[in-house]
Amino acid sequence: MRKIYLVGFMGSGKSVIGRRLSYFLRLPYYDMDREIVRQQGMSIPEIFEKYGEEYFRKLETDFLLNFRDEACIISTGGGVAVNEENRKIMRRTGLVFFLDANFEDIYKRVKNDKNRPIVQKSTKNELEQLYFSRKKYYHLAGHIRVLTENRSIRQIVEYIAFQVNRLKGE
Ligand code: S3P
Repeated sequence: MRKIYLVGFMGSGKSVIGRRLSYFLRLPYYDMDREIVRQQGMSIPEIFEKYGEEYFRKLETDFLLNFRDEACIISTGGGVAVNEENRKIMRRTGLVFFLDANFEDIYKRVKNDKNRPIVQKSTKNELEQLYFSRKKYYHLAGHIRVLTENRSIRQIVEYIAFQVNRLKGE
């Protein structure tokens, strides 16, 4: 079986949904950011500060290229789907779900997060612009779009599991 990737903007619920989906489908779960932090022995803000964003983007592609061949669930970082090579790797090796949340909900969740360097250095307006400029890439990356607004975590997880089972044989 293939991998299940969750893509979407920061704060769209990728990690929470990934963890819950992992119980539901009995598949291992990996948070890409957490794996990169472990490999590098540094936090995301430290990586950004010490080596810059471009270097971090390279680590993301390396992760996708080298991660073990195993049926599992992977929540990606919010910038992963922007890169064409990343999109190709994900679509080739798995099923990609775009978690689509509205900006106001996202902003409420991320605005005070010290562990997200892009949030730290951006105004609300800048973040909103980034959100809209990235949307097309999430659409391009995703096989299936999941609307999260006004849906509980349980409903979202059940919907994704239903789609995974439906598409299993393809
Ligand atoms: C980023 C999103 C973060 C993390 C890094 C950069 C982005 O992941 O990879 O801070 O460019 O949107 P989350 O989407 O899990 O917050």
